[in-house]
Amino acid sequence: MSNYHIKSLEEYFNVYRRSIRNPETFWAEVAEEHFLWRKKWDKVLEWDFKEPKIEWFKGAKLNITENCIDRHLVTKADQPAILFEPNNPDEDSIAISYRQLHERVCKMANVLKSKGIQKGDRVVIYMPMIPELAVSLLACARIGAVHSVVFAGFSSSALAARINDCEAKAVMTSDGSFRGAKTIAIKAIVDEALKNCTTVETVLVVNRTGEDVQMQVGRDHWLEPLLDEADSHCDAEIMDAEDPLFILYTSGSTGKPKGMLHTTAGYMVYTAYTFKNVFQYQDEDVYWCTADIGWITGHSYIVYGPLANGATTVMFEGVPSYPDFSRFWEIIEKHKVNQFYTAPTAIRALAKENLDYVTGSDLSSLKVLGTVGEPINEEAWHWYNDHIGDKKSPIVDTWWQTETGGIMISPIPFITPTKPTYATLPLPGIQPVLMDENGNEIFGNQVDGRLCIQFPWPSIARSIWGNHQRYAETYFSAFPGMYFTGDGALRDEVGYYRITGRVDDVIIVSGHNLGTAPIEDAINEHNAVAESAIVGYPHDIKGNALYGYVILKETGENRDRDNLKKEINQVITEHIGPIAKLDKIQFTAGLPKTRSGKIMRRILRKIASNETENLGDISTLLNPEIVDEIIKGKI
Ligand code: WTA
Repeated sequence: MSNYHIKSLEEYFNVYRRSIRNPETFWAEVAEEHFLWRKKWDKVLEWDFKEPKIEWFKGAKLNITENCIDRHLVTKADQPAILFEPNNPDEDSIAISYRQLHERVCKMANVLKSKGIQKGDRVVIYMPMIPELAVSLLACARIGAVHSVVFAGFSSSALAARINDCEAKAVMTSDGSFRGAKTIAIKAIVDEALKNCTTVETVLVVNRTGEDVQMQVGRDHWLEPLLDEADSHCDAEIMDAEDPLFILYTSGSTGKPKGMLHTTAGYMVYTAYTFKNVFQYQDEDVYWCTADIGWITGHSYIVYGPLANGATTVMFEGVPSYPDFSRFWEIIEKHKVNQFYTAPTAIRALAKENLDYVTGSDLSSLKVLGTVGEPINEEAWHWYNDHIGDKKSPIVDTWWQTETGGIMISPIPFITPTKPTYATLPLPGIQPVLMDENGNEIFGNQVDGRLCIQFPWPSIARSIWGNHQRYAETYFSAFPGMYFTGDGALRDEVGYYRITGRVDDVIIVSGHNLGTAPIEDAINEHNAVAESAIVGYPHDIKGNALYGYVILKETGENRDRDNLKKEINQVITEHIGPIAKLDKIQFTAGLPKTRSGKIMRRILRKIASNETENLGDISTLLNPEIVDEIIKGKI
């Protein structure tokens, strides 16, 4: 029996049981079946969550781009690997075949080499959703350089912090980007960031918008002439299974972002396996994930997972509202998309618009719908099911994280009966457990607790770049012997999981992970601000929105409050990016604190969410009287 592609519910349960009973044998069989290994592994798994140390397929040699590209040249050279859909619908879309992708990746890899980039060097990629972005990731992987993509909506100081943290030697970018009706000067943001970076020797610039940019002689180079001259052959660097593939930054509960480190073989095997099963991808299907490659969803399920399966993957440069709200549905019709994977926040935003935007397009090609990034509410689930899937296309509600590398809990379409708002069952190899606050496992069904995973899977992040101690503390210390996800979950009467949301100081806004600490740090930089606390509150479209409680310094008290609010959001935009702007700001004289000085965010969260009847015990606070004052000043 093939282990790679599950085809029935019975088979799922069999495969799942085997994968738990003997994970090493299971993953070795999956890895044997499907990939190109330059040398087989010596040992499937070595692990210890105490250290923590996790190594999969140790001793194996491979290159992930040979698996994602070269391997398909025999049978699929002329099949589109990437279908590029530009921001402007009047511009032609571009189909890049596997043969062309091979050539483009080899040329880009040779350009990197010509600039002295070698195996192990870090390359930061700050680019819009254009084909060169995918090509850049793959070119790094081709030569063994470690890519770190920074979402092109981050500000120059957020970009600089990431470049400095991983000590990048090169930055790949574009002159500008098209987003809806706007053009954004991307290269200027890189220039600003690089004023505070010393490690970057080379900046490679794609010409996308044609706007004027400053090019620093010796450091900055236009990519096109270099690509024109580059050789279209580039041998793939042979990598060890555990060599780093990429670093991707995610928010944490302190100000510094965490550079999650993913390695080569396990990541490849797991993303390929989960792509095939979660989307039930069949040869010649057209698959579209609307995420940005700046996030993990784009890494795993626009680039590596689909290409490892020889799939056709759509890349969309624009936004769902441009030129109008029918854009997603028109793209589905145009490219006859079979699998469509998006975020609940996009579904909620589009569901608010007139249904005519949907009904104008032929969506009959769709077979599978997916969601990711945050809990999907019942209303949005039904709208997606009724109007996009026509009640025929199963919805896979996929739960996973930057840290997990790939989808962990999800229905398998046509196989697992779906249930609105439930991510349902763990994929093979994944062993979820629920824990209570005292560190005891909660057994049985119809229970809720903190979601942990009790055995390694191949694509788990191996470390935080430059800070293994923080990795140990963040993920492996709360519940010894287990990986702690930071999420709460419940398990229903049949064992289905529903993710209820973060239990830590991370807030998910429009599907983006935002830590409260970095936002507070940014606000506190404002010269009129003494202290601040950020919480999330429910929002119709974004899922959560941000509510800021701000204490002013004496010098700030006479300032115009509306101006101050604007300035505070400006500081956030400069330090992090517009995605972290606050929806509501309340100025207050104090914040509820415990006797040890810790802000009681639970209370602030309830006030912001209008749940003031039920604040719990506030008698242990240092300053209980402040609570009433905050309730009175609520916005
Ligand atoms: C949340 C995104 C509910 C969760 C791939 C997780 C979800 C965080 C779901 C990771 C889902 C992701 N249902 N919540 N289907 N998928 N989340 O690192 O809180 O950007 O911990 O990875 O998103 O976000 P990240």
